[in-house]
Amino acid sequence: MRSQILSLAATALTLSQIVVGQTSTDCNPLNSTCPSDTALGKTITVDFTEGESSEFSADTGTTMTYGTNGAEFIISSDGTAKTIITNNYIFFGKVSVALRAANGTGIISSFVMESDDLDEIDWEWLGGNSTMVETNYFGKDNTTSYDRSTSPAVSEPQDTWHIYTIDWTSASIIWSIDSVVVRTLYYADALDGANFPQTPMRIKLGNWVGGAADESEGTIEWAGGSSDLTQAPFTMYVKNITIQDYTTNGTSYSYGDMTGSYSSIIINNNSTSTNTSYSAGETVGSNSSSTASSTSSSSNSSSSSSSVPVSSGRSNQPGCLFALLGLGCAASLFL
Ligand SMILES: *[C@@H]1O[C@H](CO)[C@@H](O)[C@H](O)[C@H]1NC(C)=O
Ligand SMILES: *[C@@H]1O[C@H](CO)[C@@H](O)[C@H](O)[C@H]1NC(C)=O
Ligand SMILES: *[C@@H]1O[C@H](CO)[C@@H](O)[C@H](O)[C@H]1NC(C)=O
Ligand SMILES: *[C@@H]1O[C@H](CO)[C@@H](O)[C@H](O)[C@H]1NC(C)=O
Ligand SMILES: *[C@@H]1O[C@H](CO)[C@@H](O)[C@H](O)[C@H]1NC(C)=O
Ligand SMILES: *[C@@H]1O[C@H](CO)[C@@H](O)[C@H](O)[C@H]1NC(C)=O
Ligand SMILES: *[C@@H]1O[C@H](CO)[C@@H](O)[C@H](O)[C@H]1NC(C)=O
Ligand SMILES: *[C@@H]1O[C@H](CO)[C@@H](O)[C@H](O)[C@H]1NC(C)=O
Ligand SMILES: *[C@@H]1O[C@H](CO)[C@@H](O)[C@H](O)[C@H]1NC(C)=O
Ligand SMILES: *[C@@H]1O[C@H](CO)[C@@H](O)[C@H](O)[C@H]1NC(C)=O
Ligand SMILES: *[C@@H]1O[C@H](CO)[C@@H](O)[C@H](O)[C@H]1NC(C)=O
Repeated sequence: MRSQILSLAATALTLSQIVVGQTSTDCNPLNSTCPSDTALGKTITVDFTEGESSEFSADTGTTMTYGTNGAEFIISSDGTAKTIITNNYIFFGKVSVALRAANGTGIISSFVMESDDLDEIDWEWLGGNSTMVETNYFGKDNTTSYDRSTSPAVSEPQDTWHIYTIDWTSASIIWSIDSVVVRTLYYADALDGANFPQTPMRIKLGNWVGGAADESEGTIEWAGGSSDLTQAPFTMYVKNITIQDYTTNGTSYSYGDMTGSYSSIIINNNSTSTNTSYSAGETVGSNSSSTASSTSSSSNSSSSSSSVPVSSGRSNQPGCLFALLGLGCAASLFL
């Protein structure tokens, strides 16, 4: 998710809101030498009905509550965004989330995967729309066009539990709702791989006000209109999440060079003499069936741009490091 247009009004954000947007993405491995990313290296299921999970950290400024519907991302009348982020990274993998999106015009619920060099894979729900969800992706912070989103149908995502899945390999990204595939993006269809998300990612779950008065007109339009915070609270619920790291037993991932290519990622484990990486062209993470289908269709032109409701509402936002909260580009201004 990217907050779409940097408005002057965004500079009026309070200091605490700006801090909210800051993540360890401060170091971009494409132009800096960065610390390695701790690897998940396995499969976990987190049941948020049991409360807080040590697998996640709350973003600065976020306080969370937990109940019978799991994690509660509550936008109250002050409009503060709520975000939690995994502590560990996956290097290709499959993530499934049982979620109910927040109500409310302009309220944006989100399930996003993001890497240190700003590859990104998104699900986003508009609180004022009970018939669809958006998918989107970005490669290496390339926001030169906003024609990558689709809007698959989903029934009452605010009032009905659905399971939203991202199955991410080096060959393709598959978005599914309740196990039904709604979008497939092949590596070759993302600018011959250049815009294909392919570096180790963390998972971010969040809720924010896209229709806030201090957002740009384009963002408010994209979000579905102005939010009425007097109607708050607006709550996104996440009951559970299953995260499978397709790279098993790694302890950390590091960038071997500044290309941002998956074949440059070094997989470290506790064996001191063996750091490994995947080779270019090797399909990582998919089983034989998905490998076969992605290979045979790698030149297929995907239908990913068939639905572009967002394009008119988005514009370039180069250098926006802190995408998730929609506060990010304001934060960038202060760094
Ligand atoms: C929800 O989104 C779909 C797809 O963009 C659109 O056709 C529909 O009009 C929207 N509904 C509302 C209430 O905005
Ligand atoms: C960014 O993506 C666009 C297509 O969406 C492409 O034309 C452009 O070359 C890309 N920029 C870089 C630096 O890869
Ligand atoms: C959305 O609003 C409806 C009607 O007020 C309510 O029944 C439902 O619980 C709300 N859903 C969420 C996720 O807040
Ligand atoms: C997650 O919650 C959904 C919705 O209640 C449920 O259908 C699913 O079985 C749960 N999954 C796990 C792994 O607990
Ligand atoms: C560490 O990586 C090496 C090289 O890939 C592999 O042979 C070894 O089994 C790995 N160790 C563990 C604990 O997975
Ligand atoms: C790696 O070594 C640390 C410290 O000895 C240990 O806590 C951890 O479980 C090991 N991880 C793996 C994947 O073997
Ligand atoms: C990962 O580690 C577990 C436990 O040490 C081992 O059983 C398994 O074979 C390892 N898997 C790989 C792919 O190295
Ligand atoms: C493996 O990677 C780790 C972390 O990047 C590094 O500290 C270590 O020196 C590497 N080991 C080898 C043998 O390259
Ligand atoms: C492997 O194939 C099965 C059945 O076709 C599918 O459910 C699963 O998601 C696939 N796994 C990957 C990693 O593509
Ligand atoms: C190619 O893309 C079209 C959508 O444009 C899709 O219907 C078709 O199934 C794809 N073919 C393969 C082999 O994936
Ligand atoms: C590295 O790239 C990021 C993202 O494009 C940018 O914001 C930052 O200023 C760059 N840093 C350096 C030292 O070039």
